Amino acid sequence: MSVRYEQKECRSIKPARYVRTLAEDVLAGLVEPPRKLPPKYFYDERGSLLFDQICDTQEYYPTRVEDALLAEFAQEIIHKIAPDHILELGSGTSRKTRHLFRAYQDRSGVIYWPFDVCREVLVETAEALALEFPQLEVRPLLGDYSAGLEYLPQLSGRSLYVFLGSTLGNFEEEEAVTLLRELSTRMSAQDRLLLGIDRAKPAHVLRAAYDDNMGLTEAFNRNLLSVLNRELKGDFRPSAFSHRAVYNEEMSRIEMYLVAKMQQEVNLETLNLKLEFSEGDSILTEISRKFTLESAARLLGKAGLTPEEHYTPEDQYFSLLLVAPERSAM
Ligand code: SAH
Ligand code: TRP
Repeated sequence: MSVRYEQKECRSIKPARYVRTLAEDVLAGLVEPPRKLPPKYFYDERGSLLFDQICDTQEYYPTRVEDALLAEFAQEIIHKIAPDHILELGSGTSRKTRHLFRAYQDRSGVIYWPFDVCREVLVETAEALALEFPQLEVRPLLGDYSAGLEYLPQLSGRSLYVFLGSTLGNFEEEEAVTLLRELSTRMSAQDRLLLGIDRAKPAHVLRAAYDDNMGLTEAFNRNLLSVLNRELKGDFRPSAFSHRAVYNEEMSRIEMYLVAKMQQEVNLETLNLKLEFSEGDSILTEISRKFTLESAARLLGKAGLTPEEHYTPEDQYFSLLLVAPERSAM
């Protein structure tokens, strides 16, 4: 059984342009305020596991709402696009994407390409999917989507690109345009992008989603410091930083910080670097932008994309957009 899977390894995607190493990001982002790090470093094996647990909390509504939308509309989407390939950016455990595979189950020949930066989760997920959906061909791609999409495999036939979980919202406007533009350049006229975006809503709902009562988001945020300790021989004490989630109303985004609880000194041996923190000094570890339909359409437009279908619940807490390259718009 599952011989097909056992011989499979995840394919590493070559970066299309230079991206900083962790050491360079630390030197550029942690030495002086405003301190910040790119969010991709959250996702080592432990971070990915914690994220998946966050998705099950009461406060973190996006997973629940997006999952329900996919359960309801997967059939319609698959029927409409009939993709030969499903390529997902930041696929993680592919938990919501399974609705698309279920809608497809009577047909073989579909290839699923999960693309993620976390090797452990990619491999484990590919294994689980092979057992769960024997008809589905799974070809995991390991890499960093912020390094460009040029070296992703060329796909023939129709492709459905999938980008869920409002992960697009973790990019600043310009970075998001760059990524979407690279995507739209790859897309032929029949290809589509299924994009999940979180919507602007009352601040208390948003703040709770990024600061759950069980402390999973706090653990997730602090895990970044454990990653730095491991990778750069550091001596961060994660418990010496507190987790803070702020809703920046003006910019319509959640900002996640790690805040030094006291004055402290941290050494990163690999870099021969000493970092000084005063009490209250903060590191911006993540932004999560909250869109209106207008701001989403504007962003997509800058990248040569246009929304074609919109799926949303009555309260409009979250939106799934089926997006087309502009030249193919009807
Ligand atoms: N799509 C899943 C997971 C979202 S969490 C969901 O909706 O629940 C974000 C995912 O993107 C994680 O699996 C993380 O490992 C991956 N990721 C983050 N930054 C990335 C990058 N630069 N390149 C590739 N994958 C990335
Ligand atoms: N894409 C997710 C979001 O913006 C990522 C996320 C959810 C997240 N919860 C988090 C990132 C907590 C860091 C910390 O909603």
